[in-house]
Amino acid sequence: MCGIFAYNGTKNSIPLLVDGLRTLEYRGYDSAGVVGINDTGEIFVQKAVGKVSNLATKVDGSLGNSKVYTTGIAHTRWATHGTVTELNTHPHSSSKERFYVVHNGIIENYKELKKELEKKYTFYSDTDTEVIVKLIEEHYEEDLKKTLEKVTKFLTGAYSVAVIDRENPGTILGIKLWSPLVVGASEDGVFISSDVNALSKVASNYVMLEDDEMVIIQDKKYQIYTAGNLIERESQEMDIEYGIDDMGIFSSHTEKEIHDIPTVLENVFSGRVNFGEKTIYNETLEELAEHEIERIEIISSGSSYYAGMIGSYFFKSLAGISVQVTSGSEFLADELLPDTKTLYVFLSQSGETADTRESLKIVKEKWCLTFGIVNVVGSTISRLADMWLYSHAGVEVGVASTKNVIAQIAVLLMMAVSLGQKRNLQHSKARTLIEELEWLGDNISEVLLNAPKIREIAKKYAKHKSMFVLGRNMFFPVAGEASLKCKELSYIHTEAYSMGELKHGPLALVQPDFPCIVFNPAGKFYTKTVSNIQEIRAREGTVLGYVTKWEELGDLYDDIIEIPNTSEILSIFTSLTASYLFALYIAEELERDVDKPKNLAKSVTVE
Ligand code: M6R
Repeated sequence: MCGIFAYNGTKNSIPLLVDGLRTLEYRGYDSAGVVGINDTGEIFVQKAVGKVSNLATKVDGSLGNSKVYTTGIAHTRWATHGTVTELNTHPHSSSKERFYVVHNGIIENYKELKKELEKKYTFYSDTDTEVIVKLIEEHYEEDLKKTLEKVTKFLTGAYSVAVIDRENPGTILGIKLWSPLVVGASEDGVFISSDVNALSKVASNYVMLEDDEMVIIQDKKYQIYTAGNLIERESQEMDIEYGIDDMGIFSSHTEKEIHDIPTVLENVFSGRVNFGEKTIYNETLEELAEHEIERIEIISSGSSYYAGMIGSYFFKSLAGISVQVTSGSEFLADELLPDTKTLYVFLSQSGETADTRESLKIVKEKWCLTFGIVNVVGSTISRLADMWLYSHAGVEVGVASTKNVIAQIAVLLMMAVSLGQKRNLQHSKARTLIEELEWLGDNISEVLLNAPKIREIAKKYAKHKSMFVLGRNMFFPVAGEASLKCKELSYIHTEAYSMGELKHGPLALVQPDFPCIVFNPAGKFYTKTVSNIQEIRAREGTVLGYVTKWEELGDLYDDIIEIPNTSEILSIFTSLTASYLFALYIAEELERDVDKPKNLAKSVTVE
């Protein structure tokens, strides 16, 4: 969370920095700020609460044309310490406004450090970051590199930091531990960024910094140090084209991304599934199948956690492998009993989620086999994992993950079939499944064509304050993900339960007009779920069902969202897509900012 961008070169840094922040805005959009220095040490500072566009407006109104600030640092914030105010907005400065700092991460021991520093310095913000800049001031002895090396020794936690000094106007220092930092170089200068995408349009080469490395930028050049010593690091040519598609006919990126799902599925299967021969062929999966795997543990967070839970059913039913799914934060909180016959799978859209990334590091330290499924190419998890596959969902702008979740589930399904083919999965069953997969994109398109009807239903449900989302077996995590999407996009309280658990307590809440959203496609648990629906109806609860098209419904449901008549496994994809539209339309009805829901960020790089 939080995005850092910095520049030193021949151009005016301020517009470049604001542009960089626009690409990094997915990392947080509570507030944004920028500081630039010109050659004589004069500074330009601007900060704004809210999105980067608010900062841009303020900058446009105050920058003028007469001064060129060739060095600068900038930040877009996801608040961790201190409320969303201008005072808490980065860059933060030392007491005489000599040093400025931007920071991504959390300084866990900031309270102790602050208590000590407060004896001498007055703090103006509630942030942990202000402690870093005050520490720099306290320990400065004519050499910022040595000072920063010393200061970081006091810090416990995660950080990527960029620092400038008004008395050395053409210099920027950057250092990182756990939070990402990338250096980009062009003819016009050198950049630092929290991700490589923000550099793709301005830099011709880039270098990813490793933990504890420091970069010093001076006179359009950079040097990298580790433990105080200069190191050689070859840069990579910028081969990443980062373009956020425009929204076309859609009113939000989220809506567009849901409508992208059929194309995403084509990309996921392309070169990996041979529909002619009805086989899955992928070198990574072939290599994986060579390993002795007795158990799988999937570690992920948020929507990726639900994707993992859905995937666990595939591994069990198709490959006969037992699976445990753990959220990254709980994995970190628990004790690891390392097992060399367990495959540890890490799912992440961003590839940067701290809970997932740190879990991966712990598993790697124990020499166990790690496998990443990530969307962002070159992200930390893909670089750390022993083996990986990309989910190929393309750039996902909406903070709510939609098309990527579907892509992750498709990758997990391919993995399960591929492992199953080397085990007991019947040849005919695998072929039928692959045959069906060829039409999955069309099935999803059918759901998308039903969007106007889903919108009408969503409008009715937007008035509720609380709802249950229910499903059995594979549709329990589907309900979990559908519920998360409703919460995140509409801010309505929804709670997911396994359908069978309802009678063990939650049923007490069901009363006339209380909505229960039930995933009940044709399949193994259809009849049992129907009985549970009757129990809701007996209490006069309202029932919305995701049901297969041919179903004889009678008066079982108050509303239905039909999904195509496919196998149970494929109806996971179709019903989830329909639930994304449902959540989106409720949110639109309530006039929420669907692409940037409040309090959230796309990449959660703090634990
Ligand atoms: O990038 P990741 O997939 O690791 O992100 C994990 C969660 O933070 C993420 O899925 C989050 O729950 C989404 N906003 C859900 O839509």
